[in-house]
Amino acid sequence: MSLTVETDVAVPAEAARRRTFAIISHPDAGKTTLTEKFLLYAGAVAEAGAVKARAGRRRATSDWMALEQQRGISITSTVLQFTYRDHVVNLLDTPGHRDFSEDTYRVLAAADAAIMVLDVAKGIEAQTLKLFEVCRARSVPVLTFLNKYDRPGRDPLELLDEIEAQIGLRPTPVTWPVGVPGDFRGVVDRRDGSFVRYRRTAHGATAAPEERVDPGQAAAEEGDAWHQAREATDLLDEIGATLDVASFLAGESSPLFVGSALTNFGVRHLLDAVVDLAPPAAPRSDDSGSLRPIDAPFAGFVFKIQANMDPAHRDHVAFVRVCSGRFTRGMTLVHGPSGRPFSTKYAASVFGSERDTIDVAYPGDVVGLVNASDLQIGDTLYDTDPVAFPPIATFAPELFASARPRDTGRHKQFHRGLTQLEREGVVQVLRDPDGDPVPVLAAVGAMQFEVFAHRLAHEFGAEAELLPAPYKAARRTDRPTAEHLRQVRGARVLTRADGTLLALFDNPYQLQRLQQEHPDWRLDPVLGAEARPRS
Ligand code: G4P
Repeated sequence: MSLTVETDVAVPAEAARRRTFAIISHPDAGKTTLTEKFLLYAGAVAEAGAVKARAGRRRATSDWMALEQQRGISITSTVLQFTYRDHVVNLLDTPGHRDFSEDTYRVLAAADAAIMVLDVAKGIEAQTLKLFEVCRARSVPVLTFLNKYDRPGRDPLELLDEIEAQIGLRPTPVTWPVGVPGDFRGVVDRRDGSFVRYRRTAHGATAAPEERVDPGQAAAEEGDAWHQAREATDLLDEIGATLDVASFLAGESSPLFVGSALTNFGVRHLLDAVVDLAPPAAPRSDDSGSLRPIDAPFAGFVFKIQANMDPAHRDHVAFVRVCSGRFTRGMTLVHGPSGRPFSTKYAASVFGSERDTIDVAYPGDVVGLVNASDLQIGDTLYDTDPVAFPPIATFAPELFASARPRDTGRHKQFHRGLTQLEREGVVQVLRDPDGDPVPVLAAVGAMQFEVFAHRLAHEFGAEAELLPAPYKAARRTDRPTAEHLRQVRGARVLTRADGTLLALFDNPYQLQRLQQEHPDWRLDPVLGAEARPRS
């Protein structure tokens, strides 16, 4: 292998143009609408409605996505790329439900920023809180969009308190509403004090022109609504709730924008903020903590695996986030964990089940490698200069169920499906290497089990019988402790595919007692990254 490292002068410039982010929101807060309006404002679609139409087609071609439709949530993650103001924007979709927090976490590992969309009538909803906490835990810079201001809703000051209290993220409004929710007049742009008037567009099918008015005229025309808005912004000035780029980039404060995605209002402010405030693709830490320069030879990591997105071609896509260098389709890379060569002939950009061939990609971009069945989540791929990116953390499971095929004649299909869904991270699968052959499924949320059973039945033709297992707590352990635990009633040690030994306990008090009585036993919380053994 040649060790001459070719630098590609285009790479830093291309990386600087990239903005890679995810939208995180509660189902129904307006993520799809906002995505659609981003495309409209970027000129990627001529008329709003295209995303929903595409999403509809996508659903029609995939059987397990029927479940999404049934539940009204998005379970799959897709990637959307468009250009705006000479920047390349990569929007990574995330599932909008706490039960899929682990999936969101993996997507965030590939994103450089996130947009949190809140419905002004609802604020932070309990079900989604965990998703936002995940964002906070990763220190991802977060922009906040208070959506649906055209409808009656809550006091925005109260919502600021809620964001800070519940997720520990300090909101710093960049725009502030004039008028109450439902009687929306527009926003004060706190950067220059001007008034941006709200104009209702018919379903917001086309981009609306923005009318900016100076403060004097706004005061004359909007009267009390304007004065109240100014009082609120004076208060925000006093408490220092103003845009602070450094703390935004550190994931501590969140620039906030107010609008109505349905009627297009505020969409441009937010998209401009993605370009002006969100960070470009920057050097990423490898697993030794060193930053890999953007212009080092190509390297990236798999953050998501998805099979059978299109049942017509039972395929397998690994999504790779480019971290350094230039990706060119057809290049032969090294698969970090195995050291084996990996051909990238089938590289694609993927939107749902639609895909186009991708020929070149730069840091920040996402490449879908089709039929990459040897790749696993967290795997690094590189060109000439070896590197390994840190593994993506797995979550502590909170729910457990034993799983067996309903029809023992479908044993083979069951196991094929189990292995595949485990690799995709749909659920964690725990096995007893020298005991009961019935695997235990472990999940963060119950809906993961639902998706598992649905996909197993529809894609692999195996109905599963899932029986809730009694475990209430899980701890990471080691072999010597596992030996001790063999003698303990109400405890069981199982192995996860990544080699981690998990001790499961029926009773959290029993676990506490064991920890007190045997401080030398290894019973660590299941948090943080788990190193996967290199094969
Ligand atoms: P999601 O992807 O986060 O689940 O939300 P989505 O965009 O699908 O929006 C959920 C509902 O909220 C949709 O209405 C959508 O039109 C509406 N909505 C989104 N943004 C706004 C907004 O700014 N103002 C108002 N008033 N409504 C908004 P729906 O009736 O469920 O669907 P549809 O029939 O409009 O497609």
